[in-house]
Formats: sequence, C-alpha cells, structure tokens
Amino acid sequence: MQGSEKNRWHEFSIQRGDFWLVYAFAKGDFMAESRARTAEAPEFGETLRRDSWWAETIPVVLLLGGFGVYATLRAFEGRFYQWGPYLSPFYSPLIDEHHRWWKLSPALLILGGPLGFRATCYYYRKAYYRAFFQDPPACAVSEWKRNYKGETRFPFLLQNLHRYFLYFAVLFLVFLWKDVFLAFNFNGKFGMGVGTLVLLVNIILLTTYTLSCHSLRHLAGGKLDCFSCATFGKPRYKAWQWLTSLNERHMWFAWMSLISVGLADFYIRLVASGAIQDVRIF
Ligand code: FES
Repeated sequence: MQGSEKNRWHEFSIQRGDFWLVYAFAKGDFMAESRARTAEAPEFGETLRRDSWWAETIPVVLLLGGFGVYATLRAFEGRFYQWGPYLSPFYSPLIDEHHRWWKLSPALLILGGPLGFRATCYYYRKAYYRAFFQDPPACAVSEWKRNYKGETRFPFLLQNLHRYFLYFAVLFLVFLWKDVFLAFNFNGKFGMGVGTLVLLVNIILLTTYTLSCHSLRHLAGGKLDCFSCATFGKPRYKAWQWLTSLNERHMWFAWMSLISVGLADFYIRLVASGAIQDVRIF
C-alpha cells in the first residue's frame, strides 16, 4: 500500500473509531492490517472521496438506458427502415425483407451481433456495472458485501465471448460500408443527400469504435514479450502502436458511435415515415 493511501485509511480508521486498524498501521504490521481490514469492511457506499462521484453514473443511465429502450422498440417495429438508397443500420444486413420464412421484424435476425459486441465491451461493462448494478459504485467507493466471483460464473462468464463478437462486428462493418456506398446511388446517378452524410459519419464512428477495441489490440500485440523476435514483428508492432492510440480513446468512440447509430436510424425512420423530407446536397 502506498504511503498516501495508507494515510487515508489511517484517517478513515480513526473516524470510524477502529483502533485495532490504527494500531496495525502504527506498527506497520501488514498481516494485522489485512486481518483488521477484512474483519471491518466498510459499509456499502462508504468512501473518503469528497467529489460528486455518483454524478458519473447519471449520463450512463440516461444514454445507455435511453438507447436500450429506443433500439428495442425500433427492432420490433419492423417498418420505416428503408428509404430510397438509405437503409437503417439497425436493419443491415437486411434478411428476408418480404417475410418468406421469418414473420417478425428482420432486425431481430441480426440484432444479436451488434448487441453482443456492445454488451460485452470492456468499457461498457465498467459503465453499466457501476451505473445499473452499483457494483462497484465507483473507484474507491465500497461495494456490496458478498462473495465476489468476478466474471468466472454464469451469466457473467459469457462476457469472455467478447473477442468472438469482435469477428462478427468486423463482418457487420463490411455490410454497413456497403450501405454507405449504396447511399450515393440515387436511381443510378451519383449523388449525396443528408442521409448519405448521416450514414457516412455513422460508419466512420462505428469503424473507429471497432478498431479501438481492446481485444483487437490484444490480437495485434498481446501475449508477446518481444516484437523483433516474433514472426511479422515489425508490422505487428506498427499495428499495435496505431491500435493503441485508438484504444486510448475507446470510451469516446463508444459513446459517439452509440449516439450516431441511434441518430442514423432515427433520421431514416423520419424520412421513411414521411415525417420529414431528405435534402439532396447534389
Ligand atoms: Fe469495447 Fe472491444 S473492448 S469493443
């Protein structure tokens, strides 16, 4: 334990009247300190933090919760997902559009891929564990007293499937890029509408979100102690460096792409339902 952290625990112990812990710190007795801390674990929500740590959870609940409700409603709606050259990203790739063998909304056939990728994302896990489960509520804020098993038991064990969802996500990117190219095609003529721009911005953000994934960075440079000794070491090192610089902004890409995919679908819904008209730029 670092000196400053130790001082904070010391101060906390005095506040709590926990003299056994104070004694253990004073003696520098690590074993006694550990025993004392185990015996007297802080209550849920106790912390020495003086900032508004709980405020961090509010935008997560609003944005993630709002997106979850909107995406669910849209996935089940099964209409207003296509107009002219535009296809909503919630419905791409479009499978059995004419309901030959699938009677429900076509979005339900493909939803598992992007949903699984987001739900198991390392960043979102941190965000929704804190915001929705309060487990833990925040850094240096005590959590529920229980036998912590981490992600080693069902259902949280499934979070380990993230690297496989990454492969699906890359496949989805191929379909979504194809949709953007098609969005420049207005009855056989090259053109651009506001919808084209909306889809283009969306796919750029989705691509940066996917490329900044921790699992992808691990694929490039994980489990490797020496790049120069490895096969394709130099290109792998370059790729790892580049992916690392994206990975540092993963949280930002996660939110921006979530907002953009929701807005892209919303725009196409408005146009397809006739609520607004798409504007042709050229
Ligand atoms: Fe977030 Fe992979 S860690 S998408």
